[in-house]
Amino acid sequence: MMSLNAFAQKIPVNYDESKMPSFTLPDPLVLPNGKPIKSKDVWEKAGRPAVLKLFAENVYGVNPFSGAVKIVSEVKTVNENALNGKAISKQITLRFPEISPTLTLDILLYLPKNVKQAPVFVSLNFTGNHTATHEKDVFVTEKWVNSGFDKTFVNNRATDASRGIAERRWPMEAIIARGYAVATAYYGDLEADHNEGWKTGLRSVLTPEQREKWSAIGVWAWSMSRMVDYLIKNESLIDGQKVIALGHSRIGKATLWAAAEDPRFAMVISNDSGEGGAALSRRWIGETVEHLNTQFPHWFCANYKKYNKAVAELPVDSHALLGLMAPRPLYVASATEDIWADPKGEFLGAVEAEKVYQLYKKTGLGTNTMPMPNSPVGKTIGYHIREGKHDILLYDWQQYMNFADKHFEIK
Ligand code: GCU
Repeated sequence: MMSLNAFAQKIPVNYDESKMPSFTLPDPLVLPNGKPIKSKDVWEKAGRPAVLKLFAENVYGVNPFSGAVKIVSEVKTVNENALNGKAISKQITLRFPEISPTLTLDILLYLPKNVKQAPVFVSLNFTGNHTATHEKDVFVTEKWVNSGFDKTFVNNRATDASRGIAERRWPMEAIIARGYAVATAYYGDLEADHNEGWKTGLRSVLTPEQREKWSAIGVWAWSMSRMVDYLIKNESLIDGQKVIALGHSRIGKATLWAAAEDPRFAMVISNDSGEGGAALSRRWIGETVEHLNTQFPHWFCANYKKYNKAVAELPVDSHALLGLMAPRPLYVASATEDIWADPKGEFLGAVEAEKVYQLYKKTGLGTNTMPMPNSPVGKTIGYHIREGKHDILLYDWQQYMNFADKHFEIK
């Protein structure tokens, strides 16, 4: 957990289930006219679009760009002998000339050498591509970075000394060895993560009204979809049917929203996404909507602030967001010490999403008992709670690859 700012510190934090008021979850399987949804056809035609719209208008914001986005890509480096000869690495810069002449999204891609068409994890990083690896040819990001994230960052700029600082989160060799590709990009490329980050990012081209209606998380989700645009069109070593959206924490929130909006993500993984992600907002445990909006006012759309003191009025909750992934395989993970993210709330979000999966005759988690630490459970929805801190580690990746092997039938 990061330290809370002065305003957020004044908002009470509760960790005691017995003090938590009871609540009723909104039912995603009811149409706006009050009729229950009983089939996947009605869900897909009317129910799902209505829930998606509620999330856009009240939580993650309305994406102002409709239709295909023109992308110009430039492959800047190719290394046929990356990761001790096991992988091909590429660095690709995406530009969006019809939107802005200056914005860039820099992808670092690792492809396993021995796989004809690899499934790919698409996942943003917190600190720049060069922090995910020690490989010397990876460019140091020149974008704004949060100096509070690492001591190697000076005046909000990354330095050479920050190479590899996030390597524990990116076990590239282990991923490549299992036949998976990884595409990552810095989450701050299209919007720096601070209150005025929009001024130099994608939202700078919008009208004030469009900007307020969208959000930083919306922009980060948008970047993930642009990575998919590039990958499926240009990378023949990638299997476009096996694109996995994966994200940790605030990027986990953005990842869930990316996959809700973009059906090309065939599998979705939320790692410790917490409040505003997989955790039920109506549970008064750990972080709340009010904490989020106070400490990170740019993350969500302006309307989300209406629910600071009125979470019961939110027309949706995390189970409905997770339900938007159906029938795709979805994995939700927590960590035992990550109580700020409310692990039980993340688990219950996944439990409650089951009813949407049932429309497709799929078992979601198939249990409503929270498992012991380090004991993955589930069917089309997977879940584990790892022993330890708020983080994404090799253990987590291993469970995600086991889950992906099972659902993609990789032997
Ligand atoms: C803060 C924030 C969380 C977020 C986390 C992170 O702790 O309150 O909502 O998930 O940062 O992104 O690491």
